[in-house]
Amino acid sequence: MITRELQLTADGSHTLFIPEMDEHYHSVNGAIQESRHVFIEAGLLQIKKTDVRILEIGFGTGLNAFMTLLKTEALNLPVSYYSLERYPLDEQLARTLNYTSQLAPDRDADFMALHQAPWDESVRITSTFTLHKMEGDANRLELPDQIDLIYFDAFAPEKQPDMWNQELFDHLYTCTSAGGVLTTYCAKGIVRRMMQKAGYSVERIPGPPGKREMLRARKL
Ligand SMILES: C[S@@+](CC[C@H](N)C(=O)[O-])C[C@H]1O[C@@H](n2cnc3c(N)ncnc32)[C@H](O)[C@@H]1O
Repeated sequence: MITRELQLTADGSHTLFIPEMDEHYHSVNGAIQESRHVFIEAGLLQIKKTDVRILEIGFGTGLNAFMTLLKTEALNLPVSYYSLERYPLDEQLARTLNYTSQLAPDRDADFMALHQAPWDESVRITSTFTLHKMEGDANRLELPDQIDLIYFDAFAPEKQPDMWNQELFDHLYTCTSAGGVLTTYCAKGIVRRMMQKAGYSVERIPGPPGKREMLRARKL
């Protein structure tokens, strides 16, 4: 049983804290701000396609999924969103998160639909957003292919080193479509080198508030 404490971050949005790991799900400088910067702006908005296949490592609170749903709806961009999670949240905890009040107060039902969607099947959440959550260990699951965009949102390498390994980045590379992008909040040299060894071309770009840099990888 994992203990998760609800906490407020600096931009007023919630995150979860796991005391046993001493780790947060998001930046304490702002969960929404981080998600927007790292995954939406540095990731989604870089993809120039008329429909997009996204793979997220770590569904967690559903914040990245929800922000992607809202953004792609505004862009009228159809999305297939695959998300892996080993330790799903219970619905009651998901209901306490304040993301809809911060982002789209009338979209509670869609946010909860992301959490309530059954695992291991494709579920149409809105006319432009199809979700396929996969329950299990990212290191063991068979991954979908032809992915245009990967949100690599695992816990930090110091806290969960088994999520940042060469085999997983090699596997992700084979699942990435030509021109596809992988984005992560992490800027560590060891992670950059693993991505490069997998085959990606990697750049360091400015990180979200509180973080100087982050990584963005591309399959050329
Ligand atoms: C940094 S949090 C993700 C935050 C999430 N994207 C969000 O917006 O809330 C990391 C997530 O990875 C999940 N996780 C941990 N180990 C995993 C594994 N082996 N395979 C898949 N997911 C894992 C955690 O349960 C947690 O939800």
